[in-house]
Amino acid sequence: MTDPDRATDGGRPADPTVDAVFDAVAATAPEIRAALPGRRVESGTENESGESVMAGDLYADELLGDAITAVDGVGSFVSEERETAVDAGGAVGSGADEAYAVAIDPLDGSSNLRSNNAMGTVVGVYDAPLPASGRDLVAAGYVLYGPITTMVVADETGVREEVVTADGDGVDRSVVEADLTLPETPTVYGFGGRVPDWPADFRAYARSIEDELKLRYGGAMVGDVNQVLTYGGVFAYPALRSAPEGKLRLQFEANPIAYIVERAGGASSDGAGSILDVEPEAVHQRTPVYVGNEGLIERLEAAVDAD
Ligand code: AHG
Ligand code: MN
Ligand code: MN
Ligand code: MN
Repeated sequence: MTDPDRATDGGRPADPTVDAVFDAVAATAPEIRAALPGRRVESGTENESGESVMAGDLYADELLGDAITAVDGVGSFVSEERETAVDAGGAVGSGADEAYAVAIDPLDGSSNLRSNNAMGTVVGVYDAPLPASGRDLVAAGYVLYGPITTMVVADETGVREEVVTADGDGVDRSVVEADLTLPETPTVYGFGGRVPDWPADFRAYARSIEDELKLRYGGAMVGDVNQVLTYGGVFAYPALRSAPEGKLRLQFEANPIAYIVERAGGASSDGAGSILDVEPEAVHQRTPVYVGNEGLIERLEAAVDAD
């Protein structure tokens, strides 16, 4: 349960730097959303993950990078679209100023730009130099560019959902759910990758889930995870035969999403245990991702053979 006082003061994070980071992220949302129609083309470049980068990826990265590195208390910044960490002035985790390190996926699901489906921005706020363990997250959140622009923010007191709207030259953030928790009864599932590329043990697990839940897969992690948080269920981008580490990146996709889902009463796994315990080795390292209702994640861990 969140702290009841927080709900009355609009459910904002207690930590002023965390609140300022999500204020900065929310402030960019209307501009990013307005810029997407003109940025649906490939930029012609590839990022550290070897993915082709869309013009929308670069625009969101630039806007968010400027906004986040300008926040007092942010010492460094990493992004899916940047090779290494960007120094933001403070020395991360250095004693008194305890500057934070922020990792972002500026535009998650950017391949949905062409098909006009949901996309988002993922943010992790760590109090340790990156790459860092998910246990070093002090807060995490995402913006979801759906029919409505929403922002989910999780910190040690719980998970809140806000509607973000442009008003004049700023934004209005209104908390619409002060205590977002995963429904007890799972309803939906979404699994990434191609079926023939799933290892046999995951394929058997998927078949059992298909018999029980409704398929909801939109190709953007933030949209698919938001459905799981809303309706209950499981989202996975599993280990693949062709890519045993899966597709999603630990620092700015898997850790923040795992933090949010676990704070909302769910569970996360890389196949062996909580994603938050995955050893950080590199900023762009990948990990298999399984998040959702605890019972479904327990069944997943029993089903897959993860070393
Ligand atoms: P990004 O657009 O930030 O590179 O992330 C895309 C990811 C994630 O959003 C989604 O779950 C997954 O890629 C979808 O992959 P497939 O296209 O293979 O389904
Ligand atoms: Mn990408
Ligand atoms: Mn992504
Ligand atoms: Mn991205």
